[in-house]
Amino acid sequence: MNPIIEKTIEFVKETLADAEAGHDWFHIERVYKTALTINEQEKGDELIVALAALLHDIADPKFNDGDEEIGPRIAGDFLKSIGVDSSIIEHVKQIIINLSYKASLGTVTFHSKELDIVQDADRLDAIGAIGIARAFTYGGYKNRVLYDPEVKPNLNMSKEEYKNSTGPTVNHFYEKLFLLKDLMKTPAGKNIAQKRHNFMQEYLDQFYNEWAGMK
Ligand code: ADP
Ligand code: NI
Repeated sequence: MNPIIEKTIEFVKETLADAEAGHDWFHIERVYKTALTINEQEKGDELIVALAALLHDIADPKFNDGDEEIGPRIAGDFLKSIGVDSSIIEHVKQIIINLSYKASLGTVTFHSKELDIVQDADRLDAIGAIGIARAFTYGGYKNRVLYDPEVKPNLNMSKEEYKNSTGPTVNHFYEKLFLLKDLMKTPAGKNIAQKRHNFMQEYLDQFYNEWAGMK
């Protein structure tokens, strides 16, 4: 394996040793593998894709007083310390800055194939079987009910409402997870997203059947 990647994996594992389950090393590893899978078809720069996937959640602004610069800064300083070219560092930092769902709700000025690939891979981890597990983990952490037939999903939430939403976890499927399929940028990402999307629909069909007491 490329020693730059090897050192980066080691750094990310150490740094995320105490991270919560939604954004721990295993999330990074899944996004990394999915990004490489997408890249086989999309043929972006593999080193950039790998480094950006590995470093994309190195510091979450949510847990750092909303500091949006901290992640790209830590990633950049690390890559510099292991002697990576400055043009590669710049590209990786731009990807991290522009990756988040929140950033994509604002104005995004940077575009690259590698950004599209890593963003698709990150979003894919929020849907399908893993996405379902992550959503209920998050809901449990926030002490939310699984489902409440009386509480309808809110499809037009502002950023602020989205952040403070207290709705049942099943509503999150309609408020975000089912929307991700159409946000995929790469053909390979769209393909994988469609399968995971269908699986979530089947899952909810079964969920409602069980809720209604069906055999
Ligand atoms: P991201 O890392 O994609 O920016 P978040 O930090 O908002 O996303 O969420 C991490 C995980 O928790 C994702 O799988 C997401 O779907 C899930 N999640 C976020 N908000 C909610 C919510 N209101 N209810 C259930 N799951 C949620
Ligand atoms: Ni992520």
